[in-house]
Amino acid sequence: MKICCLGAGYVGGPTMAMIAYKCPDITVTVADINEARINAWNSDELPVFEPGLDDVVSAARGRNLFFTTDKNKAIKEADIIFVSVGTPTKTYGSGAGKAADLKYIELCARDIAEFSEGPKIVVEKSTLPVRTAEGLKTVLKANSRPGLEFQVLSNPEFLAEGTAIDDLNDPDRVLIGGEEETEAGRKAIATLVDVYANWVPRERILTTNLWSSELSKLVANAFLAQRISSINSISALCERTEANVDQVAYAIGQDSRIGPKFLKASVGFGGSCFQKDILNLVYLCEHFGLPDVAAYWEQVIIMNDWQKRRFSQKIVNTLFNTVNGKRIAMLGFAFKKDTNDTRETAAMYVGRDLLDEQAVLAIHDPKVSPDQIFYDLKEKPTDAEGKPNKQIEICEDPYVATQKAHGLAILTEWDSFKDLDFEKIYENMYKPAFVFDGRNILDHEKLRKIGFEVFAIGR
Ligand code: NAD
Ligand code: UDX
Repeated sequence: MKICCLGAGYVGGPTMAMIAYKCPDITVTVADINEARINAWNSDELPVFEPGLDDVVSAARGRNLFFTTDKNKAIKEADIIFVSVGTPTKTYGSGAGKAADLKYIELCARDIAEFSEGPKIVVEKSTLPVRTAEGLKTVLKANSRPGLEFQVLSNPEFLAEGTAIDDLNDPDRVLIGGEEETEAGRKAIATLVDVYANWVPRERILTTNLWSSELSKLVANAFLAQRISSINSISALCERTEANVDQVAYAIGQDSRIGPKFLKASVGFGGSCFQKDILNLVYLCEHFGLPDVAAYWEQVIIMNDWQKRRFSQKIVNTLFNTVNGKRIAMLGFAFKKDTNDTRETAAMYVGRDLLDEQAVLAIHDPKVSPDQIFYDLKEKPTDAEGKPNKQIEICEDPYVATQKAHGLAILTEWDSFKDLDFEKIYENMYKPAFVFDGRNILDHEKLRKIGFEVFAIGR
């Protein structure tokens, strides 16, 4: 059997690497139009930082895992074609700011129709609005030729970045949606079930109709994000009442109906999925004439935006209502630990707010590149004369970042931040030395004993 995947991003790369690793008899080719990305997948510096990924890729690459820019050949040769391209929020035309932009998906469908020479199973791996498979089928059918037959499946991906390899290796469930009502549809579903059954217990492989599968992905992300916005809203109430949000989260999480996960109050959720997928859900509800349902889910985003703004405002208010010219050390820029991804990271919004207030940012992140940080902050490393940006310094060393800083803000929960020598940091900061722990990961009592003024979320 031959599998190909269009899109070698955070999902396509790790997912296909795991299939190849677990199924040595299947040839897996991952194709992307971005040559630099493919070159990186074929090098020792993979484009995605993910614990455990290097080992999985190096075990399978060259054996039955290949990365290529020749998507047409990959399509021609494959029995199963996964589509794992981006589905960002639309920035233009109708639905701008909410609907998913499906142009990359449609281009893939047109390529598949054009370059296929035999029957194919086309798998939606990207996160898509419910009913997208209908459009896909229409494009495939309209461009079909005798001898070609396409089955469309939905197989959304539930991995989280930073734990992708564990999630793929031992998923809570695999979801496969297809045309349950036809013989050909049931056969296609069974073919994909057999691929996953190479390592996933069959009872964890769920099969549904296409629409339930497509919608479940958006709903899963909406429910997860809703928990974070709920606990973040309570963090604000805790700050007014001397309740401690981590204690509240622990207490409610012990109720087995609520459960302990995804209740960590924070500076706000980020990542490429939550905001985009909820906005997409909101758009769909509006489209299907359900404005009250749309408003209900939109509140999850509104609360998240408020939480991010609240954090930057807290920094400004605490530093005597001005950060103009003051150095603020930002520790962490990725949207969570153990990833180099910064898409929608809270750090980007907090950083921009502080730059608007004319602060000087000294930013340290163990995995995010300086270029990426400047890009996200909409700034350039140098001015027209080649002089370094005066408002932003990227520091490889967290101790350099905190030197002569008025405030230190934790934006990402990297484990390494917990073990820093805070006595040394305190010595080298201006006094009063302020810590703003946007992730509640530091030992606040210890910091206060050293002399820091500490502000945390929900305490
Ligand atoms: P990404 O931007 O990292 O990767 C998408 C890749 O597709 C890019 O490298 C791009 O060059 C490539 N591409 C675009 N058009 C192409 C074409 N015609 N042929 C071949 N390649 C093409 O995106 P991602 O994070 O991997 O997300 C992909 C999809 O998976 C999205 O729909 C996303 O919502 C979903 N998803 C993402 C995550 C996550 O944690 N990142 C988790 C679950 C689902
Ligand atoms: C999410 C979903 O978890 C995953 O199932 C889906 O496939 C893709 O979207 P991801 O965005 O990679 O995964 O990471 P996730 O662990 O969900 O974290 C998202 C954001 O929420 C991060 O900024 C994280 O710091 C934040 N978060 C998470 C909290 O603030 N509190 C929590 O309790 C959990």
